[in-house]
Amino acid sequence: MAGTGKAHLATSGDQVLRVEDLVVTYETPGGDTVQAVSGISLDIREGETLAVVGESGCGKSTLAKAIMRLIPNGGGSIKLMGLEVAKMRGEELRNVRPAMQMIFQDSISSLDPHMKVKKLVEQPLKVWNRGDEAERAAKVNDLLTSVGLDPEVVGDRKPTEFSGGQCQRISIARALTLEPKLLICDEPVSSLDVSIQSQILNILRDMKDRYGLSLLFISHDLSVVHAISDRVVVMYLGKICEVSPAAELATNPLHHYTHALVSAIPIPDPTTKRVGPFSKANRPRRPIRPRVAASVRAAQPRQNSAPVKNHNCAKSRSGTSSPATTPADPKGFRCVLIRFLLLPTPRT
Ligand SMILES: Nc1ncnc2c1ncn2[C@@H]1O[C@H](COP(=O)(O)OP(=O)(O)OP(=O)(O)O)[C@@H](O)[C@H]1O
Ligand SMILES: [Mg+2]
Repeated sequence: MAGTGKAHLATSGDQVLRVEDLVVTYETPGGDTVQAVSGISLDIREGETLAVVGESGCGKSTLAKAIMRLIPNGGGSIKLMGLEVAKMRGEELRNVRPAMQMIFQDSISSLDPHMKVKKLVEQPLKVWNRGDEAERAAKVNDLLTSVGLDPEVVGDRKPTEFSGGQCQRISIARALTLEPKLLICDEPVSSLDVSIQSQILNILRDMKDRYGLSLLFISHDLSVVHAISDRVVVMYLGKICEVSPAAELATNPLHHYTHALVSAIPIPDPTTKRVGPFSKANRPRRPIRPRVAASVRAAQPRQNSAPVKNHNCAKSRSGTSSPATTPADPKGFRCVLIRFLLLPTPRT
């Protein structure tokens, strides 16, 4: 269930989304290639919230955009409610789009600054010829109200007149207009303060219950993930290194990288000592010195190579390691530890 493994995928058929061996490769203007998503397999069951966590640049947004078919994929399967969408094109692909919607990482720039809020939320209904004018207006009012915005006040204003949190609400309303089965939320609360974060999370939870949604929730904030998700996928350099029930991730991380992520959560009180499995005393020993780590890092640039250096130390909650797809790399274990060494040390 890690690396390129599939042991974490459900065997029964209530999956809204099933992704297998998804690969996305970017070509840079200089002719180099970056394999941003490197053989990822995951599934989302009906009504489930699956979180994807990982550091900046590990490929979370790329994974989301590839699932949405917004960018080309370099192989793999994407099944939405049993339908293979990875190779769909044209009208066939267009017809499945209402079932999967996305809230983008940058909510402000994902909204057309020239359109009024009412028109923005109504637009998907118009494009899909859903309802007459009165029905559409009623639906828009209902959606705006349910995300905590007064349609009378905000309806005729433009996105540039709103704060980040308000734009996030507009994005949620717009994404739900067509009543999708799958909603992908790419860091929907990362740029918001804590009180607005919890409001947005509550809205997402309410909408999930109301519309029977399944969520793919991307974040790098483990406390947010713990609050909203059922299962968590931990990504590192384009690969999965652990899949865990949300409740167990913080208390029983299996992979060294997950361990490092959890250890990096700051404790707000400087006088409080970190206790339990992530205390300084219980942290894994560092088998290499920083000087050695730096030289290993320099020898393994991400460009021109698949980011598979960590698969040798992939851990499985069920005890099944993923099959290695490339020859064993004796330095792979070090790569994770390099990150571990670079993460801020928690106060003790
Ligand atoms: N259009 C592109 N062309 C080339 N490389 C890209 C492109 N988009 C992303 N990348 C690279 O792909 C990798 C993954 O990027 P991605 O945006 O998916 O990361 P992320 O996990 O979403 O990061 P963050 O948490 O900062 O949003 C990065 O190394 C990035 O530089
Ligand atoms: Mg991103």
